[in-house]
Amino acid sequence: MIIENILKDIQSAGFSVQEIAFTSDHIEDLRGGVLNAYHNNSSESAFKRAGVGRDPTVQEDIRGDRIHWLQKEKLNPSQQKVWDFLETLKNHFNKELFLGLKDFETHMTVYPKNTFYKKHIDQFKDSNGDKIRKISFIIYLNEEWTNEDGGQLNLYDTNDQEKIVRTVIPKSGRAVFFLSADFPHEVLETKKERVSMTGWFYT
Ligand code: OGA
Ligand code: NI
Repeated sequence: MIIENILKDIQSAGFSVQEIAFTSDHIEDLRGGVLNAYHNNSSESAFKRAGVGRDPTVQEDIRGDRIHWLQKEKLNPSQQKVWDFLETLKNHFNKELFLGLKDFETHMTVYPKNTFYKKHIDQFKDSNGDKIRKISFIIYLNEEWTNEDGGQLNLYDTNDQEKIVRTVIPKSGRAVFFLSADFPHEVLETKKERVSMTGWFYT
């Protein structure tokens, strides 16, 4: 059902905002896993400050999030469930929208208090690297989140890059999908620690 809705939205609008029916225990476990790894930063679970584009240097004035890439072989059961969902979604994207996706990649993400990510796009149209990002997704893991807590995701119009088409509050279980090359977007300054899973389906 949710997959049908995502496909329909991507086809008609290029983006989709959904409430995923994960149980609160599942969300809690995903969130706990991220925060444990983040706050007890061992080398095994290293969270890194994210770089910008192909430039690995950290630019705190552009983005302030910390990331930890997930590896297929090292998923905990809660992460595995999300992974399975993403696999299924990938197969539907290929079968029904003919996107020719090879795979996806995903990282756990923490935005510490008072950080943000300035307006950007996730994939340049003319690039020809080995992974071309087709669909971006973010799954939010924050219980109790209101507009006052900041950290909203703004999606901008494909043709009018000053016009916001959707503002998303990063609340638990909410997920956003959009065409990576088409939607400039930004994360407003968060007033609280903000946790999510972020990733890309690529060809
Ligand atoms: C990104 C991004 C948005 C969000 O990581 O590229 O734009 O809401 N994230 O976390
Ligand atoms: Ni982005």
